[in-house]
Amino acid sequence: MNLDGLRVAVTGAARDTGLLLAGAFAERGAQVYLSARNLAAAEHCAEVISRRGPGRADAFRCDLAEPDSVRTFAAAVADRTDHLDVLVNNGAAYLEGDDLTDAPDDGIEDMLAAGGTGTVLLTRHLLPLLRASSRPDIVNMISACGEVGHRRSGAHPAFYAAKHAQAGLAEILSHRLRPEGIRVISLFPPDFVQDGPRQSHSDLTARSVVDCVLFAVGQPRDCFIREFRFEQVQPMIDR
Ligand SMILES: NC(=O)c1ccc[n+]([C@@H]2O[C@H](COP(=O)([O-])OP(=O)(O)OC[C@H]3O[C@@H](n4cnc5c(N)ncnc54)[C@H](OP(=O)(O)O)[C@@H]3O)[C@@H](O)[C@H]2O)c1
Repeated sequence: MNLDGLRVAVTGAARDTGLLLAGAFAERGAQVYLSARNLAAAEHCAEVISRRGPGRADAFRCDLAEPDSVRTFAAAVADRTDHLDVLVNNGAAYLEGDDLTDAPDDGIEDMLAAGGTGTVLLTRHLLPLLRASSRPDIVNMISACGEVGHRRSGAHPAFYAAKHAQAGLAEILSHRLRPEGIRVISLFPPDFVQDGPRQSHSDLTARSVVDCVLFAVGQPRDCFIREFRFEQVQPMIDR
């Protein structure tokens, strides 16, 4: 798939799935605006990606839990480009815990600030650039924890709350931005592994999740894929 010249912003992109996404877009020729909480980590990843080519990556700091940082990132992207083709809302804090008391207040605050407020604000501040694109997509890495009735993850209840906030935003934006031709593409994967065999009996891998994103973004503009839902095939203890 050739994504030559596509302008793509990815959050939480200095490791794991975000890094894989940034690399996958750049490998297909995209110009990536790679953000992470830690600027040095973002710079290192952007350098590796740019060296590999053919697309290149520029590094930015963006802590989604800090509104000023979110606004600064959006403004910095606007300084580099007059349009944005793809925003990937990937960055998200994660905490384990069955019980509400299993996480400290500050961890809960950060998780909801980043997943909820941060995702809304970043999308809001990048919307003018997306509106200036001829092929705008907003991709949301949500989670099965954002599905109504999902109980199978060991994630903390606040993670469920943050992912439901993202799902609610995605649902209404998809509807309201459709007339403008802005696709809102949301993924609801269950717990997945970064590496592993890509077999039917195996856990979902980050590579397969990334392939879903590339597939949806690569579709012609009449094809508006709104959601990816995944069957969780591994036997899990119902919580
Ligand atoms: N892995 C799974 O099983 C799974 C399942 C369903 C959905 N998801 C979702 O898919 C996305 C990627 O998953 P993953 O496995 O790559 O997650 P991960 O390994 O937990 O990495 C999370 C990423 O988000 C970043 N992040 C955390 N808090 C942030 C903040 N306040 N501002 C900006 N970035 C922040 C992290 O950056 P730092 O390096 O600074 O910590 C890291 O890059 C996430 O949205 C996740 O919730 C994952």
